[in-house]
Amino acid sequence: MTNVLTGASDQPLTKGILLSGGSGTRLHPMTLAVSKQLLPVYDKPMIYYPLTTLILAGIKDIMIITTPDDQDQFKRLLGSGEQFGVTFTYRVQPKPDGIAQAFQIAEDWIAGAHCALILGDNLIFADGLEHMLRDATRRPYGATVFSYQVRDPERYGVVSFDERGRALDIVEKPVNPPSHWAVTGLYFYDGRVCDFAHKVRPSARGELEITDLNRMYLEEGTLEVDRLARGCAWLDAGTPDSLMQAGTFVQAIQSRQGLLVGSPTEAAYRMGFISHAQLLETGNRMKKTPLGQTLLHVAAESGPTTV
Ligand code: TTP
Repeated sequence: MTNVLTGASDQPLTKGILLSGGSGTRLHPMTLAVSKQLLPVYDKPMIYYPLTTLILAGIKDIMIITTPDDQDQFKRLLGSGEQFGVTFTYRVQPKPDGIAQAFQIAEDWIAGAHCALILGDNLIFADGLEHMLRDATRRPYGATVFSYQVRDPERYGVVSFDERGRALDIVEKPVNPPSHWAVTGLYFYDGRVCDFAHKVRPSARGELEITDLNRMYLEEGTLEVDRLARGCAWLDAGTPDSLMQAGTFVQAIQSRQGLLVGSPTEAAYRMGFISHAQLLETGNRMKKTPLGQTLLHVAAESGPTTV
């Protein structure tokens, strides 16, 4: 097993926010009594996927922001973080007043550190993802976002590029999109992010837009926009169709390859966050499921001395 961050002591300390509030109106009535991010995507709760991404980025200090009503259920599912070798801090967002509000809610906890943010309904699968994430956490200054080519850019924040591939502008849900490159729900910021977040004003729809925060870094010349290659998958599971597609995608890869997609336990093990004994314990706890069986297989293949 390789710990892709081995020797990464020079990297800035990065915290991570898993933003899992919102109202999930596009998934009603499924989300009337259950948070969207707790719905299943094939064999795991949705939030496992973005959590796995943060773990693969080497992030151990994670804040989970939920609605006030849903917090207890998230705690029941995820606990203190010990099972994944990370520490969870829980906060609530009273109303869905915008994604950039996360940095106001978490300001004292971030305390000037670098901070990543991932949306609780975003699933990203990419070859070499760990390396992209590591590069983003190691940038000493500025912000990094990821863009992905989509058919329906008007639903997202959209980036336009100049002929040399540098980002020119980002616009939120444009009626006439300047490109097909949407900004994904995974963002990395330097220690100034909370100062910038305080300068964001509510948009016409009354939200503190993450696009406005990103534009501040862009105007300063410190926004890195990494383009995800066509072989990558970025799915947001916010509609019945995309929820179904995400589940089908995970099922196809897992059953074809016998490998797990979006397992925070496996990611934590491969990153050296948990021991072989902890991996075995989780595998045994879930041994009636294919997920548990695969964890036990990973444990058997890697042997107790690897981590
Ligand atoms: P959206 O999908 O834009 O909003 P939503 O989840 O409320 O769903 P709907 O549009 O169907 O009503 O949000 C994207 C993600 O960001 C999602 O994981 C919820 C999260 N979010 C918050 O936690 N707080 C917020 O204020 C907003 C706007 C979004």
